[in-house]
Amino acid sequence: MSSAQKGVATKRFPEAVVRKFATGLLLAMGSRAEDAELVADGITTAALRWHPGQGQGLEKFFRYHRRYKIGGSVPNAEMSWDREGPSFALLNANDGWGYVAGQKAMRKAMALAAKTGVALVGVRNSDHFGIAGYHAKTAADGGFIGISMTNARAEMAPWGGKTAVLGTNPWGLAIPRRNAHPIVLDMALTMAGQGMINWAAREGQPVPDDWALTKDGKRTTNPLDLLQGATQLPIGKYKGSGLSFFTDAITGVLMGAKFGLSVFQDEKDFDVSHVMIAVHVESFMPLDRFYDRLDQLIHEVKSAAPINPGEEILLPGDAELRRMEERKKSGIPIDAESIEKLRVIAAELGAPFLLE
Ligand SMILES: NC(=O)c1ccc[n+]([C@@H]2O[C@H](COP(=O)([O-])OP(=O)(O)OC[C@H]3O[C@@H](n4cnc5c(N)ncnc54)[C@H](O)[C@@H]3O)[C@@H](O)[C@H]2O)c1
Repeated sequence: MSSAQKGVATKRFPEAVVRKFATGLLLAMGSRAEDAELVADGITTAALRWHPGQGQGLEKFFRYHRRYKIGGSVPNAEMSWDREGPSFALLNANDGWGYVAGQKAMRKAMALAAKTGVALVGVRNSDHFGIAGYHAKTAADGGFIGISMTNARAEMAPWGGKTAVLGTNPWGLAIPRRNAHPIVLDMALTMAGQGMINWAAREGQPVPDDWALTKDGKRTTNPLDLLQGATQLPIGKYKGSGLSFFTDAITGVLMGAKFGLSVFQDEKDFDVSHVMIAVHVESFMPLDRFYDRLDQLIHEVKSAAPINPGEEILLPGDAELRRMEERKKSGIPIDAESIEKLRVIAAELGAPFLLE
């Protein structure tokens, strides 16, 4: 996704300000300090990595706050383990923050996989877990291969349909490298989300015709045609729709949480489900040998002949890493409308407003 923001006015803020502001909002809602710092880190990481129209940064507080006010989100929830075996576990997030639940689950998967080689940990009764790559990268930072996935609100019609049943159900996959950032593929199973369509509408720009269908099942490039009852189109046509089905089956259905048409619908009871998988590299081969072989694969991929001479072949996550480096220097862009909404939320919570 391009990070061009012509047409929508944005203001940039240092990473430290975004982090402190997010932490203050979470503390004001009653989160424990360690959880507030963790969720704020997820939100700040997302804001550093993604386009503001993707809505993964401070924009998340619009819904966090709404759900907190009606008791749907419990900022200081006590999470509990429902089941546990040698290479699996199931966490009940008890309506707590999705970032906290996702991190607890991935860390448990890593601890179990260190003994068994591979572990899968599910979560039920959770919230939006943020960016899928955040949880997968936690595993890669610890020397594991990490896979994370979640179900989400029905926004995608099954292939051939025109009513939404399946979610954007993103996947994060991360693999550790020697002396380099892990490689992180972080993607929704739809071509784009509602947030980017809204952003294009505000910019007055057309959208690609493979992003979404109108409520009548027609393709259009006019974002205004899509704002009423659009369904998101999957990546890879019926293959993405199939992946989304399986993601919902492995998360919501298997973990005893909501799925399909019911997950993420009732703001008092989202009951979102996630799955974290950790693979212990050294159970399969010595770490050094793995890193040598991965470097060889990376070299082969990067050396592919480009379609346009001189253009670089990117690895998954390269674009986000570059955006992050640039924003660490120049600040995180936030649009004026979001800043005003965040001002109201901070005032209601009695938290310091730092986006001046
Ligand atoms: N929790 C939820 O319910 C939820 C739902 C949807 C999306 N999300 C999050 O939103 C974020 C954005 O997702 P998205 O699918 O819109 O992202 P995207 O389509 O912008 O990027 C997807 C992936 O493709 C890679 N990529 C992009 N261009 C590339 C190129 N030229 N060569 C190689 N790789 C390339 C990126 O590095 C990234 O890993 C993600 O963090 C995702 O987890 C969360």
